Amino acid sequence: MKQLQMTSPSSFSQITTQKIIQMNDVWTSYDSKSYALKGINISIDRGTNYAIVGQSGSGKSTLLKLMNGMMTPSKGTIKVDYQTPNVNNKKFKLMMHKIGYIPQSLGLIKNLTVLENTLIGSLPRLGKFQSMFKIFPEEEIQEAKKILSQVGLGGKEERKAYMLSGGEKRRVAIARAFMQKPTILLADEIVSELDHHTAREIMNLIADAQKRLNLTAIMVHHDMQLALEYANRVAVIKEGEKILEIGVEGDKIVDFQTGDFTTQEIMEMYSDESKK
Ligand SMILES: Nc1ncnc2c1ncn2[C@@H]1O[C@H](COP(=O)(O)OP(=O)(O)OP(=O)(O)O)[C@@H](O)[C@H]1O
Ligand SMILES: [Mg+2]
Repeated sequence: MKQLQMTSPSSFSQITTQKIIQMNDVWTSYDSKSYALKGINISIDRGTNYAIVGQSGSGKSTLLKLMNGMMTPSKGTIKVDYQTPNVNNKKFKLMMHKIGYIPQSLGLIKNLTVLENTLIGSLPRLGKFQSMFKIFPEEEIQEAKKILSQVGLGGKEERKAYMLSGGEKRRVAIARAFMQKPTILLADEIVSELDHHTAREIMNLIADAQKRLNLTAIMVHHDMQLALEYANRVAVIKEGEKILEIGVEGDKIVDFQTGDFTTQEIMEMYSDESKK
């Protein structure tokens, strides 16, 4: 006899439809003369992989900085797990350590080892004294080693960060983010500039972690094909505006934002954009 499913349909739908990020008519500016983002609306389901694609300077990194509270909007509202991202918001500060942010520059400390860089992800869990002097408990060291082996860096724990290849550096940045035990991962072009094979290995690592941890991954990409292959939804940003929100359904690319475009039109539009 078949076993009954433990999860009832109603509770299942509650989990899957829960929005972890909501942006409503968000505008932001660096210099008060022009807007880097104009009227952005984004809604991201918990546990999904969301990609942001667009030309250089279109506002992709700015979007991630708004999601982790490094910047605040000039207009509009943002909720991340029901909190307004702002470092002055106490409730947001309490959950900030659950956001694993990998900046475009990766943010590794080049003279520290792979293991030490990874352990930095555990600092928010440690006491003030431990974190000030970087005294890591044995269980955190073991956890960091486990994660490093998951990301394919087993045996390289003692290597200094500056000695690593581009792909290895990205794996350390991922390990540091995983060490935070995040619910949200914000990754800014971590697979750009890598060969196809390494880029896929790294994307698979993140996809694996998503299955294990119900992680929501929001990733900025340059490669539209790769974004479509891994993401449930892809936002296409042009000059600060979200012009499309696409995803693969069966063998078609669907534009969820307007619903007006065919697969061919979408791909042509994007290849025209990327040639500019
Ligand atoms: N610190 C800053 N001060 C002033 N303007 C900025 C700053 N950072 C970004 N900008 C401007 O905001 C716009 C969006 O920048 P952003 O870094 O978000 O683009 P991007 O899509 O991530 O580009 P890239 O693909 O090159 O990383 C650009 O016009 C950029 O010049
Ligand atoms: Mg950027």
